[in-house]
Amino acid sequence: MSDTDLPQLDFFTAQPYPTWERARRECPVLHYSSSDFDARENFSITKFGDAEKVMRDWETFSSSINGEVIGQYMGDLILAMNGPEHRQYRNLVAHAFRASALERWDTDVVVPLIHRLIDKFQADGKADLVVQVTSKYPVQVICAIVGVPLADFEQFHQWAEEINTGPLDHERGMAASLAMRAYLEPIVESRRVQPEDDLITDLVTAEIDGEKLTDEKIYGFLRLLLPAGAETTFRTMGNALTALLTHPDELARVTADRSLVPEVIEETLRWETSVTMTSRVAAKDTEVEGVPIPAGCPVSVIVGSANHDESRFEDGEEWKLGRPAQTHLAFGTGPHQCLGMHLARLELRTGLNVILDRLPNLRLDPDQPAPVIEGFAFRGPTSIPVLFDA
Ligand code: HEM
Repeated sequence: MSDTDLPQLDFFTAQPYPTWERARRECPVLHYSSSDFDARENFSITKFGDAEKVMRDWETFSSSINGEVIGQYMGDLILAMNGPEHRQYRNLVAHAFRASALERWDTDVVVPLIHRLIDKFQADGKADLVVQVTSKYPVQVICAIVGVPLADFEQFHQWAEEINTGPLDHERGMAASLAMRAYLEPIVESRRVQPEDDLITDLVTAEIDGEKLTDEKIYGFLRLLLPAGAETTFRTMGNALTALLTHPDELARVTADRSLVPEVIEETLRWETSVTMTSRVAAKDTEVEGVPIPAGCPVSVIVGSANHDESRFEDGEEWKLGRPAQTHLAFGTGPHQCLGMHLARLELRTGLNVILDRLPNLRLDPDQPAPVIEGFAFRGPTSIPVLFDA
């Protein structure tokens, strides 16, 4: 199987899982002569064990490639650092994203936000859960934690999306990156004078070896955290709602027994993660599954494919509750494992529970198109039309 055998996959509408299933069987390390974004020969890892190994071995598989690609739009970011430098900078914000530190955000921010969104349509008996809930919810949570005004969340969502898709539209990505920085500058300056209880304050007061962070590092953090918080969980929540609504018996069971909600979340992350791949570059000549990978070649780790690997997950293409507890790779693994995973799980848990509490007899609207989870690197539905008892 070579790259010429593979179908072209559209970034926004692709259904890549059949291609990845074939790759795991026939050619688990895909070799491409170039990609849309990069003239270099490059490789894709599709099996669980290989994906784990690559993401844990930062000395052989460097994250520096993220500086070349998404770093153009985000700036100086931890996602592109390696080794001790990465640990030092990640530790500056890691405490704010620990599960215990997040509890207060649940009561103060997450619960009130989701209720406020549902208040707006609960009396209607119908809604689009993407348009009216998921696309507005995690973005407001991350704005609150970072310390930017909630009133501007729609602007942040737009910038976040334009930054994330910068490699597809360079000019738009750069314009969003500059606009976000210009917007943040007065807020950063005001926290220097008057600290508050938020992440911007943590960043402007942080020191490494007695030195304050440079502006490049501060804006790099902010341009990573805001899109990472805004663009990921909302899609996963759409995927979880799609799974439940297309399995009405399971929806009824979960509605009656909320102890199943964490399992719904983990199975959805395994089955349809919103972030299907992570990027590395070979720091030296190496090999995976006997396939030689020369130094300097980009390596995509397809975590979406790894999470369907039949050698680990029986009937991996199916969303199914009651599987034996097995870790998945939706949040990656190794030094760069998702910093926001506890926040994502909290938002999903609270969001799903409040939706099930407040929208009784929730079901797909039979007169509207059914939701479709789609996309190549980021996956989610663009619409979930539902009915419920008002
Ligand atoms: C369901 C939602 C989410 C998914 C599926 C997800 C997925 C991932 C993955 C796969 C990585 C690893 C990247 C790599 O190894 O190169 C990652 C890293 C990261 N994520 Fe998430 N993420 C989610 C939510 C969030 C949230 C809510 C935040 C909030 C700030 C966040 C912040 C980050 C950051 C800062 C990193 C980089 C960590 C580092 O480089 O050390 N993520 N995420």
